[in-house]
Amino acid sequence: MKTRITELLGIEYPIVQGGMQWVGYAGLASAVSNAGGLGILTGLTQPTPEDLTREIARCREMTDRPFGVNLTILPTIKPVPYDEYAQAIAESGVKIVETAGRNPERFMAGFKAAGIKVIHKCTSLRHSQKAQAIGCDVVSVDGFECAGHPGEDDIPNFVLLPIVASSLSVPLLASGGIATGRQMVAAMALGADGINMGTRFVATREAPVHDNVKKALVDADERQTVLMFRTLKNTVRVFRNRVSVKVLSIEAKPGETRFSELEHLVSGTRGRDEVLLGGDIDNGIWTAGVVAGLIDDIPCCAALIREIMEDAADCLRERLPTC
Ligand SMILES: Cc1cc2nc3c(=O)[nH]c(=O)nc-3n(C[C@H](O)[C@H](O)[C@H](O)COP(=O)(O)O)c2cc1C
Repeated sequence: MKTRITELLGIEYPIVQGGMQWVGYAGLASAVSNAGGLGILTGLTQPTPEDLTREIARCREMTDRPFGVNLTILPTIKPVPYDEYAQAIAESGVKIVETAGRNPERFMAGFKAAGIKVIHKCTSLRHSQKAQAIGCDVVSVDGFECAGHPGEDDIPNFVLLPIVASSLSVPLLASGGIATGRQMVAAMALGADGINMGTRFVATREAPVHDNVKKALVDADERQTVLMFRTLKNTVRVFRNRVSVKVLSIEAKPGETRFSELEHLVSGTRGRDEVLLGGDIDNGIWTAGVVAGLIDDIPCCAALIREIMEDAADCLRERLPTC
């Protein structure tokens, strides 16, 4: 299939695996790229810029196809040396970067000088327009459905995507809530040139997380997420469990929420060690989207991408036969 995304990124299918903290290692990214999509390593999952350089080299040994690196610019408990991570990416020879969170403008000159195409993930029209204006090559439109940070406007992609599409000229990825080929067809009808998925790729054989996490996604319905940190204006969609419900109860108390009250519950390393690696799905915060309601199996990435493409073709044949 050819779209502006496949052409620009040099991939076979317009399917991207978004950056995922503690999940986006070389094993998963290379599996997605080898299957014809675009795999993305998560920069900050690597403890230092030097580790990221090594992980990029490892990924290159596992695939000869294009892959990208995610750089997420968000408030963190520990300060992050962003400039050093950006420099490691630029020097690594990787040609695709996915940025997310804050405006990536300060890194654009370095990325462009290294011949890098920048995909910026946005949750609003105004941020999408800004991303195009500062030279981003692709905007990934992350609707309210998405796992992780949906922003504060709460606009799902059925509305956000066509609004952004009618305003921008750069290629668009539809992100958030997608797991099937018929959703990909719908996203393209709304103006996307491809799709970006996170949660769906967590429930694959190659995702480096405990089987209990993958099973929890299969068992979950679409109501199994919550929105934390609304009171801090840094909303994040995570799996509904004992810890995330506890966070909500603290946030619901009268008065201002202090992050220090939540810190021990929400630390990323607790989510990584207890849940993603340990398999105790109730004992830490872990990111997941409402799309869990559409996940019924744990395929390998190649089978998943094949199935999405077949489902898209079936959808066009069955639902839109005269198109
Ligand atoms: C486990 C997990 C971790 C994530 N971590 C990040 C991250 O570090 N940086 C980022 O930009 N997006 C992150 N995301 C968001 C994804 O890249 C993607 O935008 C989102 O998952 C799309 O929504 P979906 O899960 O409904 O497909 C994460 C998503 C998941 C499921």
